[in-house]
Amino acid sequence: MTLGIVRASVSTEHRVALVPKVLSSLTKKGLEILVESGAGRGAGISDTAFREAGGQIVSGEEAWYSDIVALMGPPSDHEMERLKTGAVVAGFLQPLDTPARMSRLADCGVTALAMELVPRISRAQKMDALSAMASLAGYKATLIAANRLPRFFPLLTTAAGTVRPANVTILGAGVAGLQAIATARRLGARVWGYDIREAAREEVKSLGAQFVELELEMEDMQDEGGYAKALMEAKAQQQVKLLVPHLAKSDVVITTALIPGRRAPTLVSQEAVEAMNPGSVVVDLAAASGGNCTLTVPDEVIIHHGVQIVGHTNLPSTVPADASFLYARTVSAMIQEFMQDGRFQTNFEDEIFKAVCVCHNGQVVHERILSMIQS
Ligand code: NAI
Repeated sequence: MTLGIVRASVSTEHRVALVPKVLSSLTKKGLEILVESGAGRGAGISDTAFREAGGQIVSGEEAWYSDIVALMGPPSDHEMERLKTGAVVAGFLQPLDTPARMSRLADCGVTALAMELVPRISRAQKMDALSAMASLAGYKATLIAANRLPRFFPLLTTAAGTVRPANVTILGAGVAGLQAIATARRLGARVWGYDIREAAREEVKSLGAQFVELELEMEDMQDEGGYAKALMEAKAQQQVKLLVPHLAKSDVVITTALIPGRRAPTLVSQEAVEAMNPGSVVVDLAAASGGNCTLTVPDEVIIHHGVQIVGHTNLPSTVPADASFLYARTVSAMIQEFMQDGRFQTNFEDEIFKAVCVCHNGQVVHERILSMIQS
């Protein structure tokens, strides 16, 4: 069977789905690796490096026409036309954000595996691409904030005087948020973390940050998958109001709150931004899902009342070498999991396969995506 590694067509995507370091484990499973020329360029990986690792350099046409295609992001209409009927595609397909596009993918006759849908069970941990990317995003968000802030992060004592450390607040303490907290702590800031999941409180504190306590009565806000549940509208509005005094004292606010398959919750209102000091920075990691700040504009930096609001939608792509390596580990683990005797075996009895398989045999087969398409 052939496995294609293709070049991302979106200009802001610098990652590649598989890297030379993971190729030997795939060739051992009997796969012949076809690499589109230039596929790794954005991540600093040459065709020669792929060739030396056992890949063949081919045209885009050939790579897309492989039996299995490893993808970074969802294919465009033109790219879908290049897929072979019966092929397997694995990658970030954005099924929860663009369910209707999954019908188009099904029409291509491919078996589509969405890396976003990997279940949070021990056996699937090595395939958890979302967590790997969230860590990179959290780290990079803190660096961007530190770079933009017209102040130091750490307490600094000089002969000319002492400057106080920056106050940094991280809203949403999942994988990205905890990495943002750890990075801000390492840079010497005073850090607060906040989340609606009760379990997050201890994790925030264990990183040396303080937990933002709000007078908000909560039931258990964690679902069986470990993800957050959405707050009822009245509670959500109360939360936004209660956060304002704390945000007003923050030099940096990094927001990471997401609810899978829904618009990101609003946490930072216009009122909160206007209460912050000029020069302060908001980095909104939820920009691609509607934003946690009402003023966020995706992929833009806007300035409101002197506060900078940064709306990057693909921060992992700004660390393309490490992001590609980590992502490649998860995608190759996914492909290897279902290779048997040199062939890719679909298996709807398998918990992981069932959770990630969106399309098969010309149909959307994933119940949740189907119900999103029908609603
Ligand atoms: P996520 O990316 O879906 O959301 C980010 C964070 O936003 C979550 O912590 C969520 O609770 C929080 N959030 C949502 N609505 C909020 C609101 N209104 N106010 C404040 N915070 C809000 O979540 P992520 O980062 O993927 O992880 C969620 C949990 O799952 C974490 O505890 C993480 O450690 C755990 N996890 C477990 C894994 C496993 O078991 N294999 C793998 C990865 C994460």
